Amino acid sequence: MTASRLVADDLCVMEQRNGEWVLTAAVVCAPSRWVLAEKLGQSVSAIHEPVPGYATDLDQLVAKFFDRLSVEKPVWRLNWTLVDSPELFLWPRASIPPRPRSWFFRVERQTLRRLARSDAIVFTIRTYVTSLDDLLVAHREYGANLLLALETAPEATLDYKGWRGVADELRERLNEVS
Ligand code: HEM
Repeated sequence: MTASRLVADDLCVMEQRNGEWVLTAAVVCAPSRWVLAEKLGQSVSAIHEPVPGYATDLDQLVAKFFDRLSVEKPVWRLNWTLVDSPELFLWPRASIPPRPRSWFFRVERQTLRRLARSDAIVFTIRTYVTSLDDLLVAHREYGANLLLALETAPEATLDYKGWRGVADELRERLNEVS
């Protein structure tokens, strides 16, 4: 709790239990449509159960990566998505909303580090949100890449991310700002 008040990042502590990495403690102020209470006590594999392709493409890599993570070499990664709200705290969506006119580019800067004394792993998440319109004005070149990602995403990913219809909106915006 004290640590979480010292940094703006969300903090998750992972510990090894029966050969699996399990979420044992966390302070998460900016969940991206997930509920912390449902993930506490779960293994990394179980936490990612709703993520399309995770079990087949990422699960084993992440498990190995966690086992090999060293105290000396913390790592970072980025995760991005487009969401229909600028709020940092996002509840899971109960039903498919009407198509919003505003989209927001949401980026999580995540870090992973092993703690020397406890051997636990701390996973940090710092969330940044900017409106898609502002992003396209500042970085016009991102538009085509985003559109490609949306157009080539598998069907399951479109549903998981809530991206149905976003490609059409983005195409319209790109025409407007060009
Ligand atoms: C290198 C390590 C990790 C990788 C590669 C990874 C990868 C991913 C990916 C691809 C997603 C889907 C996000 C999206 O499409 O927007 C996701 C979601 C998520 N990740 Fe991770 N993740 C990692 C570590 C962790 C850890 C340590 C936690 C511990 C709390 C965690 C918690 C979550 C949660 C709660 C979700 C949302 C799941 C849901 O929708 O219910 N991830 N992760």
